[in-house]
Amino acid sequence: MTNSAIPAIKLVSVSKLYPSKGVQALKDINLEIQEGEFFALLGANGAGKTTLINILTDLVTKTTGQVEIKGVNTDKDFVTAKTYLGVVPQEFNFGIFDSCLDICVTQAGYYGINREIAIPRAKQILTDLGLGGKLASPSRTLSGGMKRRLMIARSLMHNPQILILDEPTAGVDVQLRLGMWNYLQKINRENGVTILLTTHYLEEVEALCTRAAIIKDGEIVKLDTVKNLLHSADKESYIIEFVPTPLVAQAVTNTSKFELVVIDENSLEVEIGSKQTINDLIQYLTTQKITVKSLRPKGNRLETLFINILKK
Ligand SMILES: Nc1ncnc2c1ncn2[C@@H]1O[C@H](COP(=O)(O)OP(=O)(O)O)[C@@H](O)[C@H]1O
Ligand SMILES: [Mg+2]
Repeated sequence: MTNSAIPAIKLVSVSKLYPSKGVQALKDINLEIQEGEFFALLGANGAGKTTLINILTDLVTKTTGQVEIKGVNTDKDFVTAKTYLGVVPQEFNFGIFDSCLDICVTQAGYYGINREIAIPRAKQILTDLGLGGKLASPSRTLSGGMKRRLMIARSLMHNPQILILDEPTAGVDVQLRLGMWNYLQKINRENGVTILLTTHYLEEVEALCTRAAIIKDGEIVKLDTVKNLLHSADKESYIIEFVPTPLVAQAVTNTSKFELVVIDENSLEVEIGSKQTINDLIQYLTTQKITVKSLRPKGNRLETLFINILKK
């Protein structure tokens, strides 16, 4: 077997029960993430994303099951497994009085990297992440987005082959988010770093990831390529704006083909299935003497799929 056939991350029947609250946070999770993948774990708050990630990084102890990082069973050798991992946790966890440079250099020290090597490396990574002007600044003086990037810089100090990020862009403004996306995409494509991130931003998954698992109440309810997920999103909701008319009430009840829902005096919502076309809809509305002014998707397709899965 060649090395590349060994998954970067493998979970076999992993379950987690938090005894204190009696919460079954993960139920029999089986998952393999291959080397070089950019993988998303997608789910609502409380779905179990952080628990899963924390089991991979040894912050939470699993109840049952097995985890392998690059073929290394974490029950047998977590020390080696951890050398492969860079971790960006959901909560900021660095010393607030320490400078950005110190935080990164100290982290490198945990992996046996001496200061002569760590200092230029830290400067380079911090600069790449737009923190070149903040090397000596105490971390408490940074904005939220900068702190997030500092966490990413710190996680990369030992050159990990796998990067795990828990909601890296939560609370980060749009422009910074795009910058982070570019950076993550670059290290994935150019350095071959396998990336696993959790998010509840659908557009993040669409923009970055090759594959995604949707997790709900501790179970993986969908696992596929993002391309297939988009393809299987066979229904899409639209908002129709029309010239206000009392005829709209009739138009809503006159059809069994379309489920039209009145939003207000000049807009309707409709779900278009894979067997229907927008043409059919406009034609129908025209026969009902409704003048359509505009039509726009309600959310993106992945969002609709996600919402439908969570409704079930
Ligand atoms: N330390 C803990 N003790 C008890 N219950 C926990 C703990 N951490 C998480 N949980 C519970 O486990 C479930 C999954 O939480 P979490 O993994 O944080 O989900 P997510 O990251 O998807 O929001 C939730 O019901 C949460 O309340
Ligand atoms: Mg979480």
